[in-house]
Amino acid sequence: MDKILVHGGRKLAGRVRISGSKNSALPILAATLLTKEPCVIHRVPDLSDIHYMLTILSELGAEVERASGTVRVRAENITTDAPYEIVRKMRASVCILGPLIGREGEASVSLPGGCVIGDRPIDLHLKGFEALGAAVSVKSGNVRVLAPHLKGTNVSLRGKFGSTVLGTDNVMMAAALADGITIIDSAAEEPEVVDLANFLNKMGAKIEGAGSRRIVIEGVKELHGAEHEVIPDRIEAGTFLVAAAIAGVNVTLTRAFPEHLKAVLDPLGQAGFHIETSADQVTLKANGSRKPLRLDTEPYPGFPTDMQAQMCALLTMTDGISVVTDNVFPQRFMHVAELKRMGANIELNGGTAIIHGVPKLEAAPVMASDLRASAALLLAGLAADGVTEINRVYHIDRGYERIDDKLNDIGAQIERVKV
Ligand code: UD1
Repeated sequence: MDKILVHGGRKLAGRVRISGSKNSALPILAATLLTKEPCVIHRVPDLSDIHYMLTILSELGAEVERASGTVRVRAENITTDAPYEIVRKMRASVCILGPLIGREGEASVSLPGGCVIGDRPIDLHLKGFEALGAAVSVKSGNVRVLAPHLKGTNVSLRGKFGSTVLGTDNVMMAAALADGITIIDSAAEEPEVVDLANFLNKMGAKIEGAGSRRIVIEGVKELHGAEHEVIPDRIEAGTFLVAAAIAGVNVTLTRAFPEHLKAVLDPLGQAGFHIETSADQVTLKANGSRKPLRLDTEPYPGFPTDMQAQMCALLTMTDGISVVTDNVFPQRFMHVAELKRMGANIELNGGTAIIHGVPKLEAAPVMASDLRASAALLLAGLAADGVTEINRVYHIDRGYERIDDKLNDIGAQIERVKV
């Protein structure tokens, strides 16, 4: 198991190229199961979560080839039982359900694992499948969905904490091959849902309204192969912006879409950072004094829960009192205890962190507990006094492509050590 050593106090300056989006690539790769024809996907990031998804596709019988960032999948003959050993490692494996039932009329998948960020149900996914006419049973940790005749329907995917991203993806993929028209109300509006809908439409699907609360899918008889380039990862981009805010002088992100980053750029601007954007670049200059923030996570276009931990890291070193509430995953605060080990002053009250800024953090050995929490610890280490040792870094490799190399390229000093 690797660990990461972050030597604090180095200043960051330069350009970082943002990778393809993990959260777009995962459902898009799953969608290749919807056709027997070959699909070609470009800008697929090299991450362990992507590796799991490709392994699942292979185990289901698809031919998978990967050359640098391009993946070719040909799912001519497939089975519908996903292997537990891989599925349990990643929550996003649940998004093979929609394509399997859309194409084969049945699927069997273990209840998903993934990040330790509280209770992560899939009731809304199953509600969507049932609305389409599927029979769902959950037994011994397995979900079995039987759907010989999917029929278009109206379904709301609104849950207690808003809509569901992968649930919207799943229902959209199943409905693409259903009889008739499906209307998803309270659909997730995330850019990754739009990217998937664009790919499905290239495959011959008839989907309108992706990116809004109401998606209309006119089912078609079959889908064909297609080629697609995944959008830039807005969470990776946001993470590098926070790195620049914490330790930067002047950092430019290339191949980043500022329109997907508004909910992160606005608070960084309010906190006092100077930001310049162009069509596919963002520059952050860490100038002057920082101000504390009040942040509430919300589904897109609100402030993303996937950026909450990283912003907490910045706010621990920002004079004044900041208040951060996670409305999407209220239990997603595993980074707080670790940041406190580094000298942060944070009170946790349910799903709200009250952060009293301190002038400096001190390096300490810390433990990564989930993907974004690990990123937050790495960012905190950039500005801490001394060498921060982060253990269990496999979490960070699930979602960030070469984050240590990319940060070192702009002036950080981060070592990866085999333990
Ligand atoms: C996706 C992202 C993840 C991000 C999350 C919220 C991927 C691969 N992952 O996860 O990085 O943190 O969106 O932006 O795209 N919920 C239910 N019932 C369900 C499904 C979800 O109650 O059936 C709840 C969840 O517990 C959570 C909220 O809805 O409180 C949002 O979850 P959801 O959008 O489904 O997250 P994912 O799609 O799994």
